[in-house]
Amino acid sequence: MFFGPEFLDLLRDKVVLSDVVARRVKLTRKGRESLGLCPFHKEKTPSFTVNDEKGFYHCFGCGAHGDVIRFLTDCEKIPFTEAVEMLAQMAGVPLPKPDKKEMARQAHQTSLAEIMEFACQYFQMQLRTPAGQKVCDYLKNRGLTGQTAKNFRLGYAPSGNGLLHHLKSKGCDLHQCQKLGLLAFNSTRQLWHDYFYDRVMFPIFDRRKRVIGFSGRMLEKGEPKYLNSPETDLFHKGEQLFGLPFAIDTIRRKNEAIVVEGNMDVISLHQHGWTQVVAPLGTAFTEKQLQILWHMCDEPVMCFDGDSAGQHAMIRALNRALPLLVPGKSLKFAVLPQGMDPDDMMRQKSDSTWKNIIQNAQSFSEVLWSDLLATHDYSTPEKHAKFEKDALEKVSKIQNVEVRRLYEREMHERLRGLLYKKSGRGKGMKISAPQVDDFLLASLYAYPQELSIFSESLGNLKHFSGLRETALFNGWLDAVLTGQELPMPETEKKLMHQIEVIRSSKKPVVVVQEVERFISDLQLQQLRTEFALKQAEYLKTESPEIKVQIDSLRQEIENFLSEHDV
Ligand code: UTP
Ligand code: MN
Repeated sequence: MFFGPEFLDLLRDKVVLSDVVARRVKLTRKGRESLGLCPFHKEKTPSFTVNDEKGFYHCFGCGAHGDVIRFLTDCEKIPFTEAVEMLAQMAGVPLPKPDKKEMARQAHQTSLAEIMEFACQYFQMQLRTPAGQKVCDYLKNRGLTGQTAKNFRLGYAPSGNGLLHHLKSKGCDLHQCQKLGLLAFNSTRQLWHDYFYDRVMFPIFDRRKRVIGFSGRMLEKGEPKYLNSPETDLFHKGEQLFGLPFAIDTIRRKNEAIVVEGNMDVISLHQHGWTQVVAPLGTAFTEKQLQILWHMCDEPVMCFDGDSAGQHAMIRALNRALPLLVPGKSLKFAVLPQGMDPDDMMRQKSDSTWKNIIQNAQSFSEVLWSDLLATHDYSTPEKHAKFEKDALEKVSKIQNVEVRRLYEREMHERLRGLLYKKSGRGKGMKISAPQVDDFLLASLYAYPQELSIFSESLGNLKHFSGLRETALFNGWLDAVLTGQELPMPETEKKLMHQIEVIRSSKKPVVVVQEVERFISDLQLQQLRTEFALKQAEYLKTESPEIKVQIDSLRQEIENFLSEHDV
């Protein structure tokens, strides 16, 4: 009996998971979840949780995890079909009538999966032949253990037509094998032959660890380095993630997924215990792949190379995800040192380097903002206006209203912060913002007494770098600190005018508030800049001292944010 996904979802919706579990396990309600003794392992204190909202149970003791169907098959030890029938009865839902077309499709898929399984077994066997020895050596050289090769079912496609003979001997339909990208037919010579020649074979599995495709790597240098199965009835590249069935459990348990670029990266990281790692299959990260990960965790971390290609890929991924952001779901971005992929890192550096890189992943909004900063200038009102227009246009792409509103708010705040900033545009170019500095100076001169409370923080900020501004500020500071009368900058006509305007239009308390706000923006900005610089330095030097500084800076920023309520 075949049950379509819609029908299964209907059952999952109709039946309350905790009701089903409660027949076997005594549950106590705790907030949104229920808690009980795990039926899948022996325990004295309860670590088995049931979440009806999500429709999943999870045991923190043994890692058992699943939905209502899985609960029945595992707990009652009954086959899938039976579990579904049982649920249908509980829910009072009639079983669907067998659909001939759907059943035929299923049968077809099964037979295709069988062929892929034959091929996978064949490739695996080739590792144990004399010709396969060089592949074993190759894998060993790349740091993989025999166990890892076994887990991922790595194999070897030798030269010649061994697979053709193998599939023939299994009675497979050659045309189907051709459609699966395992064999090819040479029409001029009217001959069948193998598709993969002399390549290390990485099987690609679906969620249930059925082989649906292969990625074959050349042993030597050559093009293409990786040859992938074509799109087939089983294999849709943009809808799969390499390593997913090995990672699902960890991703759910840790609520963390890491997306890297290459197959070898996935395998190598898994071997080092990073079992939440997956990779897209040589294509750009697709919407579908993002949705798959979002079903399992909230903020997948995407890893990119530190070079410009990596930066571009990062921005592409960001733009693709931007319209899809919804409350609670986002992405993070981690940047690797230039010219290294995670596999190199694992082998050349310590695990803690990698850990740091993942922990220091930047948030979505940070990356969005730095990209805007890097591509825009704001030295004149016109340029600034264009910047503002582009920034708001960008966030308007977010479809979800709540998320969009908050991004808009953040953009406005960041854009306002720019006005106060002296230097900024990406590559260290200095742009003075005289109107802003004059506004600050005029405020200080207008009410020196009231604003004297800021003398220390302004002094520490070293905000003014222009000679004139520094001189004016130092004049003010000197007067405030010594308690002498502040001489007015009579020759500064414009500034004098501004001072007059402030005195006649604003009360001191208002100006105090404005300056306070200005200072806290500036402090935050300086902390962030310092943080970014230290991070860059750390990527280069990996000095543990810098690491400590980064951690304390992060703490400082957090404290700052919570104290200033920004
Ligand atoms: P890379 O060229 O970065 O390879 O491609 P890699 O994963 O580091 O492989 P090693 O370490 O040299 O063995 C990243 C990914 O892009 C896809 C593959 O999925 C690969 O893992 N790719 C690459 C292709 O599909 N075809 C190619 O020709 C090259
Ligand atoms: Mn690599």
